[in-house]
Amino acid sequence: MKLDDEYKVIIESFDVNGYGVCHIEGRVVFVEYALEGEEVIIKITNIHKKYCFAKAIKVLKASPHRIMSLDEINNLAGEADLIFVDYETELKIKENKVKNTIKSSNYKFNNIISSDNQYNYRNKTMMPFQMRNGDVVYGYYSQKSHDIVETKNDSLANPKVSDILYLIKRYLVLFNVSIYDEKTNSGIFREVMIRNNYKNEFMIVLVATKKIDFSRLVEMLTEEFKEIKSIYLNINSKNTNVVLSDEYYLLYGNKAINENILGLTFEVYPASFLQVNHNQCEKLYSEAFRMANLNKNMNVIDAYCGIGSITLNIAKNVNHVYGIEIVEDAITNANNNKKINNIENATFICGPCEKEIKKLANLNNIDIVFFDPPRKGCDIEFLNTIIEMKIPSIIYISCNVATLARDIKILEENGYELKEVTPADLFSKTSHVESISLLVRKDTK
Ligand SMILES: C[S@@+](CC[C@H](N)C(=O)[O-])C[C@H]1O[C@@H](n2cnc3c(N)ncnc32)[C@H](O)[C@@H]1O
Repeated sequence: MKLDDEYKVIIESFDVNGYGVCHIEGRVVFVEYALEGEEVIIKITNIHKKYCFAKAIKVLKASPHRIMSLDEINNLAGEADLIFVDYETELKIKENKVKNTIKSSNYKFNNIISSDNQYNYRNKTMMPFQMRNGDVVYGYYSQKSHDIVETKNDSLANPKVSDILYLIKRYLVLFNVSIYDEKTNSGIFREVMIRNNYKNEFMIVLVATKKIDFSRLVEMLTEEFKEIKSIYLNINSKNTNVVLSDEYYLLYGNKAINENILGLTFEVYPASFLQVNHNQCEKLYSEAFRMANLNKNMNVIDAYCGIGSITLNIAKNVNHVYGIEIVEDAITNANNNKKINNIENATFICGPCEKEIKKLANLNNIDIVFFDPPRKGCDIEFLNTIIEMKIPSIIYISCNVATLARDIKILEENGYELKEVTPADLFSKTSHVESISLLVRKDTK
């Protein structure tokens, strides 16, 4: 087998990362954009000793669950690796991903929380710009390179996003602004971040390598789109994959836009972490609160709390809640949000959970701890302290089932039992899946 070889295959199954799977010459082959049961011609794109990757180049017998042809997919870009699959199948794939990765037994597995809107749900879009054949283009990076696949219409973003991006492109062409080239680390304009809230108000962040006068662009944007409430310039001159630096300048309007989550108001700044799917975020939190069965006598820790969106919603129903978060700005933001919502029974602590949790270890009346870590999951030092503290219940919100399964195993080996898991679809049309799990200490049942 060598690169670019073509084979006619039947796809045997669909794996947890959104690839069709088949076998050739003793190797497992992961095929992009092919579904279980389909007969396809594939081309080998990447070879390893025991497995390889391929892309489907012709579908000879299509699955009834395919909703998009290969030609239609090729005209799209971005992370939407399940865009060609019907929603029912997508939900099954996600449920299986969670079910098959968690190795525990005797726990209740609930149906996935599905979404009413599988398109246009994202409240944050990052769009890089590049120069191509003398034209300014914007779009997502192709999966295997840093070349942009032009994305005039992002089906997952708010519909206004494509109009805003098109206006920015017109401005860049009209005023001959140089576009950043990462190969030579030269040029000025790099990327745009667009956020929107539940009221469809927008925040725009222009990313450039140096401060130039964008006042005409600001005028054009705010004249055309009355919904734009805030425009920032972020200066990033480093040749790095990290898009936003810490250097922000407010060019127009408000410093923050407000989001409403389950009746509370949250200020959102350019760098604030927020779930990208607002409606599903509310369903995710509600399911976590159902599992936690909160009451006014309880004391709770919310680890990895961000701007306090879970913490302050917990506060409404408990005696006291402690939120821990590593990013200082997020904690400042969380304390502001506490004030805005007139909440008094929440304390925010800034620092790494694995260190800060130790300072709470002498509080022997913590009833529940919520975890909502980044993709890499929880630090072992953090888990060990939770185990030592013998906190009766854990609600684990996870965006990466592999690290969730790893952490559940550690907790199970140290006195906890997995009781319940609910997957949730926060990233429709992609193979990413969120989940909520309840673990309870065996000796406190
Ligand atoms: C998935 S986000 C969850 C935020 C919040 N719970 C929410 O729902 O919006 C994970 C958060 O953990 C924070 N974080 C990452 N590592 C951390 C650590 N070691 N200790 C504390 N917070 C951390 C990140 O800054 C981020 O805000």
